[in-house]
Amino acid sequence: MSNSLLTFQRLLQPPQLVFCLFLLLLARFTLFFVSYLKARRQFPGPPVSSMWFGNLSETMSDDIHDKWRAWHRKYGPIYQTWNSIFSRVIYVGDPRVVSKIANSNWPKIPTQYSGFKPLSGSALFAQMDQERWKQQRKGLAPAFQPQTVNEQYPTLQKYLMKFIEEIDGAAKHGSLIDFSTLDVLLTLDFVGEVAFGTELNAIRDGENCRILQIFHDVLPELMKCGLFPLRAKIPIMKSTRLMHRGIKELRELAYIAVQSARASDDETKPESGTGSRRIFEILALQRGADGGYLFSAKELVDNYGGDPTAHAITFAIYEILKKPDVLTKLQAELDTLLPHDCEVPTIEQVSRLRYLNFIIKETLRYNGPGFGTFRYTPRNVEINGYKLPANTTLALWNPQVHRDPNLWGPDADEFSPDRWYTKDGQTAVEGPRFIPIPGSYFPFSYGPRKCLGEGLAMLEMSLTLATLFKRYDLTLQERFNMEFLPSFTLCSKNGLPVKARLRV
Ligand code: HEM
Repeated sequence: MSNSLLTFQRLLQPPQLVFCLFLLLLARFTLFFVSYLKARRQFPGPPVSSMWFGNLSETMSDDIHDKWRAWHRKYGPIYQTWNSIFSRVIYVGDPRVVSKIANSNWPKIPTQYSGFKPLSGSALFAQMDQERWKQQRKGLAPAFQPQTVNEQYPTLQKYLMKFIEEIDGAAKHGSLIDFSTLDVLLTLDFVGEVAFGTELNAIRDGENCRILQIFHDVLPELMKCGLFPLRAKIPIMKSTRLMHRGIKELRELAYIAVQSARASDDETKPESGTGSRRIFEILALQRGADGGYLFSAKELVDNYGGDPTAHAITFAIYEILKKPDVLTKLQAELDTLLPHDCEVPTIEQVSRLRYLNFIIKETLRYNGPGFGTFRYTPRNVEINGYKLPANTTLALWNPQVHRDPNLWGPDADEFSPDRWYTKDGQTAVEGPRFIPIPGSYFPFSYGPRKCLGEGLAMLEMSLTLATLFKRYDLTLQERFNMEFLPSFTLCSKNGLPVKARLRV
């Protein structure tokens, strides 16, 4: 027997085998640890507060927005944090890099989006398969064209009338209204009907609205799962189990809506036209070339997520009420351009409200409810001098970019709708608008995967704010200061208590 065969046989003896395995593991661990230490030095970032869980406790905290901004200012536009020793997030806040990544549609990172899977498994925003995403996006596009969006006006007008009925009642009794809840109820009623074909009666049921209660259980927890996906997979926390239960109920409701729309569908039609139907009908009844439904019931149901529009409306009301000069200018515009007896303005009327449009843009800059998008590159890439490593989460996050003084000037932390006028000192109502540099403003994300609901959200926001400020004088509860909560989207933690008085 040869010497080498003997040596090999000896190595197969149990004690030697265990020793060899140990050496292999040690070598693997040493290699991993060296590459981890190298990665730790690759980009600046806050020191880790835990050896194993890195910066996780900071990123899970309620004031994470302030931290993102502070880190951006301290460490520069590209910095990193660690969710665990195995997982880091590189925050990309250099507009040139943001626009390159988003415009070339780098893939979304499955590990990160798997945290949102419990609610949004096959929803468009969480679709990881690029081919399926292209198909789905093409299928959804007709439902979000400007003409189709405008056709949703009667539904929005109907719910705005219920909205003002509710406020009129509170105004009569001089009672406080929590606008952060009322705005959510309004958008639930609206989106429930146009996008899911369901009358939720949210405004009518108020705090007792079941969907509202489910959202309270689901959305803040879902954001935590998005940041740390393992949390959703191993539901040891009570809040995670409550989230799963809420999602199940939500799915059952949406599933019934899809089934009932399909039950009355005419199966002989090869493809349903868009006509002037609700968005939901266009989606649920759309058929592909083979005559089958383009979207599975699961795909439609998974899109039944939280709508950030309500929070944007709440933030706008809050900022307007804190700035008397903004309020005065807005009401002057509304009084000049809307008829005296107007309750809910028409689309044509709100399209002329330029200052209101600037308020909305500024709200989405200052406190945009949607944070941005998670992407990755499958290989190492150098872009504008930054070496981005393969398979690492890249967060194209707007909270810090939207408040970067290098991009927005020394008053970046001020809420100032006037910045949307041109910068040449011209503030004439008809003057050209200020256009931010590419990659510096992306409340609805950016590039081919930007938000599909932008037009619908802008319509909801403009009509609601115009209706509200034309009809009422609103005052914030004394000494109220909003606290922000990074739920699935940014929202108010302590509501928005406001008194309303009918304007004469
Ligand atoms: C102010 C309100 C809104 C904001 C700030 C907002 C923001 C965003 C952002 C940041 C994304 C990218 C998410 C990511 O990549 O992870 C997104 C995607 C998306 N949004 Fe919105 N959104 C709003 C309202 C709406 C509404 C009302 C709808 C539909 C009813 C909608 C439908 C979608 C869809 C379908 C996507 C996925 C697009 C894709 O992946 O191709 N959004 N939105």
